[in-house]
Amino acid sequence: MTTEDNNNNNNKDDDVDDDDDKTTTPAAVFSRVPSNFVSYRPVCRDDVDVIADIESNSYPDDEMASKETLQYRCDRAPEMFLVATEGNEDEIIGYACGTCVNENETLTAETMGKSHDPNGTILCIHSVVVKESKRRRGQGAKLLRAYLVYLKALNNDRKRENKSALKSCRLLCKKHLIPFYCDIGGFTLLGESDVTHGKDPWFDCEYAF
Ligand SMILES: CC(C)(COP(=O)(O)OP(=O)(O)OC[C@H]1O[C@@H](n2cnc3c(N)ncnc32)[C@H](O)[C@@H]1OP(=O)(O)O)[C@@H](O)C(=O)NCCC(=O)NCCS
Repeated sequence: MTTEDNNNNNNKDDDVDDDDDKTTTPAAVFSRVPSNFVSYRPVCRDDVDVIADIESNSYPDDEMASKETLQYRCDRAPEMFLVATEGNEDEIIGYACGTCVNENETLTAETMGKSHDPNGTILCIHSVVVKESKRRRGQGAKLLRAYLVYLKALNNDRKRENKSALKSCRLLCKKHLIPFYCDIGGFTLLGESDVTHGKDPWFDCEYAF
């Protein structure tokens, strides 16, 4: 084949790519996402700055995770970190994340903090967050349900690969969010937690797989 043939061939390929551009590359496909459509994907390292910003606008100073802690969760437990994005520019509008502990460990400030046991069978959910400007439109409920569906699929993979599967998810929430987790998410209220942090009591909720 001559160089000219080669060039012609390349041009041909380019033509095909041009024609099919809207269906060939992930970026091109992504550009077709309608502006208000919300999708879910695993976290990536580049997301942490934006997530840290949303986190700091969503929790009081003494409850929010620092950027360093969010980075830790993204690096050590990326499979437990799901991001909700809206539209075709991948705008992060929410996220859910957690880290794992061994069975029978009680939820303490430490287990809810910066540690992760990859073989742990209890997922401690640290954050379920929707960006302030997007709240009370049903996105939190969708995110919570999507996270549970995602974790069940992850569990199925783990069982197939003979890896330790999650037995349950646990979280601590304030009283006003008990209906959000129990009525919408299907969690069970275990009762008031021993954890004391701030002036309001915390409630321990569980979702068994
Ligand atoms: C909690 C949170 C994720 C909910 O997200 P959202 O998109 O506003 O939730 P939804 O619109 O799907 O709400 C669904 C239902 O949950 C309940 N709910 C949601 N937020 C609530 C709140 N702040 N107080 C009381 N009930 C609430 C309501 O019943 C609501 O239905 P309604 O709007 O018809 O009354 C969001 O408020 C958030 O990010 N908060 C800051 C972070 C946080 O506290 N996360 C929980 C950690 S335990």
